[in-house]
Amino acid sequence: MNILVTGGAGYIGSHVTVELIESGYTPVVVDNFSNSEKFILNRIEKITGKSVKLYEGDCRDRKLMDSIFSNEAIQGAIHFAASKAVGESVSNPVLYYDNNINSLICVLEAMSNYDVQNLVFSSSCTVYGQPDFLPVTETSPIKKAESPYGNTKQICEEIIQDTSKSSALKSLALRYFNPIGAHPSSLIGELPIGIPNNLVPFITQAAAGLRDKITVFGDDYNTPDGSCIRDYIHVVDLAKAHVRALDFLDRKGASFFDFVNAGTGLGHSVLEVIETFQLANQIKVKYEIGSRRSGDVEKVYADASKARKILNWTTKKSLQESLVDAWNWQKTL
Ligand code: NAD
Ligand code: UD1
Repeated sequence: MNILVTGGAGYIGSHVTVELIESGYTPVVVDNFSNSEKFILNRIEKITGKSVKLYEGDCRDRKLMDSIFSNEAIQGAIHFAASKAVGESVSNPVLYYDNNINSLICVLEAMSNYDVQNLVFSSSCTVYGQPDFLPVTETSPIKKAESPYGNTKQICEEIIQDTSKSSALKSLALRYFNPIGAHPSSLIGELPIGIPNNLVPFITQAAAGLRDKITVFGDDYNTPDGSCIRDYIHVVDLAKAHVRALDFLDRKGASFFDFVNAGTGLGHSVLEVIETFQLANQIKVKYEIGSRRSGDVEKVYADASKARKILNWTTKKSLQESLVDAWNWQKTL
């Protein structure tokens, strides 16, 4: 089964491409390399021993999308392609609304033109904001987005939901919590451009001596050690959820939309993550306590029971394993 993977050279998309191949699917990648490198495709081929069909270009290019769908007998799509830096979305909202929303629209148009029904969409736990109850279930209300990036995820879910009501579209949005780590081969992983925004790449770069020290954004939150709590999920566990989601959609009748949390169900604080990284890798990382980062939620972690029930999927890898894989990947860079 040929599966279109938009953004398949990116951090999560590359791991999903590997899992698709290993599960017997044939991924067809489209990527404009705005936030990834071409060598990742060679690495995927090295891991899987299979060549990967690549279309270099932009999802918003309707001619390109049409040629992919007419050439490749696409039977489903996983849509990762988006811009994802929260801070940049605040300073350049139009870029985010244009890329994230129009990319989705072009994918949906091409799917409709070629009668392709199954779509897995990359959403985010950011749609919940600071939830009133933890762990956060899928019935929790959507909060007003803190950033244009977060808003694009909310709008995209709505676009998919509306489209599924008026067509044969079947779609599942996976609301990712905090993906970390890298493939255990250390051949693929996250490639942050410039100074990382996210915690784990910052820790690995600090451990590698590329950054002087980590700043912990606040230790005065209402949490056991005062630092923020998140649900960190190994990227390979997350990648496997996408394969389960495709299988799930395949079993569904026409027209369907739902969303599901993709997290471990466990919350860890920033200080715990730093401590676990040091212990697991036997390496010291300098850190200091700084002020809170604006827009941060205090604590969020998933109720992962819906994913277990409908996808028969649970995470297998621990925080420690994720941080070992993250460090092993950093050492190759
Ligand atoms: P990434 O930047 O590593 O991957 C995105 C890929 O899409 C990149 O290879 C980029 O070059 C490509 N791309 C972007 N716009 C494109 C376009 N218009 N046409 C073709 N290719 C395009 O990001 P990621 O971390 O792998 O995230 C994948 C998806 O998951 C995104 O939609 C992101 O918003 C979502 N998500 C990520 C996280 C996270 O923490 N990484 C959390 C929640 C949701
Ligand atoms: C961020 C985004 C979120 C996005 C997610 C994945 C914000 C407000 N939210 O989530 O929309 O879906 O990335 O891309 O940007 N931290 C430090 N020091 C650092 C870096 C981070 O203490 O140098 C802390 C943060 O305060 C947070 C935790 O580490 O408590 C995780 O941060 P990060 O990796 O940026 O992810 P989120 O903020 O959860």
